[in-house]
Amino acid sequence: MTNLAIIGGTGLSRLEGNVVNRREMVKTPYGAPSCPLVFGELGGDGVVFLSRHGNRLSIPAHMVNYCANVWALHSVGVTRILAVGVVGAIDDKVKVGDIVIPDQIIDYTSDRTGSYDSGDGGIPKHIDFSYPYNDALRQALIQGGKQAGASVVDHGTYGAVSGPRLETVAEIRRMERDGCSVVGMSSMPEAALARELGVDYAFCAVAVNLAAGKGDGVIDVNQWSDAIETGMASAQKVLANTLPLL
Ligand code: HPA
Repeated sequence: MTNLAIIGGTGLSRLEGNVVNRREMVKTPYGAPSCPLVFGELGGDGVVFLSRHGNRLSIPAHMVNYCANVWALHSVGVTRILAVGVVGAIDDKVKVGDIVIPDQIIDYTSDRTGSYDSGDGGIPKHIDFSYPYNDALRQALIQGGKQAGASVVDHGTYGAVSGPRLETVAEIRRMERDGCSVVGMSSMPEAALARELGVDYAFCAVAVNLAAGKGDGVIDVNQWSDAIETGMASAQKVLANTLPLL
């Protein structure tokens, strides 16, 4: 059994080239994960795949059962997660199509169960979260990304928001002042839940638009699909080049 998982985000409900061995719907004390776990091999490397937004990508970020997803992966022996998701670019250095491997998080979400700690003494209340992303996994993604020929930004702060609406210009200005490089809806509480369970976690962020106020005019979400398709094709190449490094 492999201990490595990939969580796919918007536009990534299956891994191209994944040789699937079996699918399993795992029951958790927190309810059902977004879909069955897919056990397979990508380029000869074992991997467990989970589509965060479900098989049909129909579960929006604010409705995802993050507790069940991370628990399900942990319960089948996963100790390392590479998570993928789309983001808006805040830092002027980040361009649409870039792959950003963040090293920090600021959590602006307000609507989510952010801990397994239910006060019964089971899961510890306090975890160190100084460095939310695992550096070995980050370095592998950076190297894999470069090998894949992607435009990789090798650090940055992920500003996690609840969504599903996008931000106001003032919110993005505040996030920029706070030091956020990108804004997305998925890495929290996913990263913190993984840390609570002792699972190493890193994030591969695909920039699909300039954040509110950073481009000309408003954000046309109807134009997203092309950027998501191109970005996720790039992310798949990054992952394929990263797996052999782990
Ligand atoms: N804001 C929040 N989440 C996002 C964005 C954005 O601009 N783009 C992709 N996910």
